[in-house]
Amino acid sequence: MSHDIKTIEHDVIVIGAGGAGLRAAIECSAHGLDTAVVCKSLLGKAHTVMAEGGMAAALRNADNRDNWAVHFRDTMRGSKFLGVYRMAELHAKQAPERVKELEDWGAVFDRTKDGLINQRNFGGHRFPRLAHVGDRTGLELIRTLQDHGIHQGFEVYMECKAVKLIKDGDAVAGVLCLWKDSGRFMLLKAKAIILATGGAGKMWRVTSNSWEYTGDGAAMAYDAGAELMDIEFVQFHPTGMVWPPSVRGTLVTEGVRGEGGHLRNSEGKRFMFNYVPERFASETADTEEEAAKWLAGDKEARRPPELLTRDVVARAIYNEVKAGRGSPHGGAFLDIASNRPAEYIKKKLPSMYHQFKELAELDITTTPMEVGPTTHYFMGGIRVDPDSQQATTVKGLFACGECAAGLHGANRLGGNSLSDLIVFGKLAGDGAAAYAKGLGTAPSISDDQVTDAVRHVTAPLNRETGENPFQLHDELCEIMGEHVGIYRTEDGLGAGLEKLVGWREKIKNAKAHASSQYNAGWHEALDLESMAVVSQAVAMAAKERKESRGGHSRADHEVEDYDHWGNINIILKKGDDDEMVLSHYQREAPDPFLEKIAKATVEELDAMTASGEVEI
Ligand code: FUM
Repeated sequence: MSHDIKTIEHDVIVIGAGGAGLRAAIECSAHGLDTAVVCKSLLGKAHTVMAEGGMAAALRNADNRDNWAVHFRDTMRGSKFLGVYRMAELHAKQAPERVKELEDWGAVFDRTKDGLINQRNFGGHRFPRLAHVGDRTGLELIRTLQDHGIHQGFEVYMECKAVKLIKDGDAVAGVLCLWKDSGRFMLLKAKAIILATGGAGKMWRVTSNSWEYTGDGAAMAYDAGAELMDIEFVQFHPTGMVWPPSVRGTLVTEGVRGEGGHLRNSEGKRFMFNYVPERFASETADTEEEAAKWLAGDKEARRPPELLTRDVVARAIYNEVKAGRGSPHGGAFLDIASNRPAEYIKKKLPSMYHQFKELAELDITTTPMEVGPTTHYFMGGIRVDPDSQQATTVKGLFACGECAAGLHGANRLGGNSLSDLIVFGKLAGDGAAAYAKGLGTAPSISDDQVTDAVRHVTAPLNRETGENPFQLHDELCEIMGEHVGIYRTEDGLGAGLEKLVGWREKIKNAKAHASSQYNAGWHEALDLESMAVVSQAVAMAAKERKESRGGHSRADHEVEDYDHWGNINIILKKGDDDEMVLSHYQREAPDPFLEKIAKATVEELDAMTASGEVEI
């Protein structure tokens, strides 16, 4: 059967065309490799654009006290010390270079008065660190990478869904793809494959993610034998639109708070002052004095509590609503109008201005917005080697961006995603190029594997009757919303896992009506299979981690349990009998110098820098 399938060979295939995928493809091409990008959607239509407020890099333009060590420390603390130290080091050290490279490639950043790249405040970052283009930074990043990439000569297969990784022994050898328009298959052979498919936010109803984000990369990697790590940590961005219902979940950039927006409850109170965690304040505020000001509710404190990390702010809004102090449509008020002039708001936040005007008939220069938590980002994903981004257990398979785990641990700082994908997109490109060049002969593909995969993928078309895939997707969102949301409990997760067992039985019987061409139901049925893997992994890991840390909040285990869980990553892997197997990875002791930086007080770190112990 596979002989009828068009087969094309490249050196490297990149799956996913957001920022990480494009950056990886650019790097592979620069290494002289025949590279192709496969994307489920249109080139550039990626969740990258939902990182609106900026990319974090210690450029030192807005505050020259910033440097890689401060950024590294903020990232590790934001991750609740569960990030991979080496990845956080690589990220903090290389982000400035990658941002300047984007500028060289034509990115038009907002400028300081002196003509430098401007940087704004974001949650959990000690200094203003986010290079930005108004509130369209992700879009500008994609535009720049597309413009630059188009001249590198890589092939692009658009509206083409990667459905199955094909292996030769313990290494990847290619990927089976399905064209959306014709319903035909294509087999791509390659020496190395880079996954850059993003997260799985579409498993929840209220989400900033669009239809593409169904965990395809994580599921394909899992199926091929890769490990999934930290998958229980899902970021609920504190501010999505809550009204009107048609746009519920649409992102309202953290840039609104970075530019001076305040959160208020129905009583008009800036409630975030009541949610400053003591430890957090003393660790993150510039000085003990500043931390004391936050805790005392001093409204003049230099960094407002609206810029606490996202996990803290999302839970605070949730709790205000639960306590009956929410806005009319079940959120909080985000008010920038009373703190900044209209012209400033329009200049710094043009997309937000238009978004609310057009979608909610509301003028944010005069009226507070209504906002609430929205599923935004997966901290966990495919476990990779920090330097090369190669999957830990599958040769020739690489992952970068949101589908890879490691940098963000239990919680990602806003703005660290765009810098993540340019830093680790490049490193994945380098890693895959080195691997592909080092491979003697190209791996081979057995017809049987392809034939089996095609039979499996076409099954929803070939059933006489069955379940409606769209309805099944909705059922999944219901289960995840009820049992695997912002707050989780042992009983709730147990019940959710049981429902997921029943749901997985149903999706085995999903039926796509009509022909294979432009068949949205068929593609939905295939997406359900990815979400089946990822939803089970999230729920299992969330049930296992009996503590609250970052994006994972257990109502029945409310504290961070550093003694027991502080050094454990949860890993999920496909077992020999195809069951999902959960294990604990006991982290090795970190590099002592990095650990010293991460755990230093601000004063200690400043002293390390002043003495030259930290080189900047
Ligand atoms: O709020 C935002 O602009 C999102 C940024 C991010 O997720 O990094």
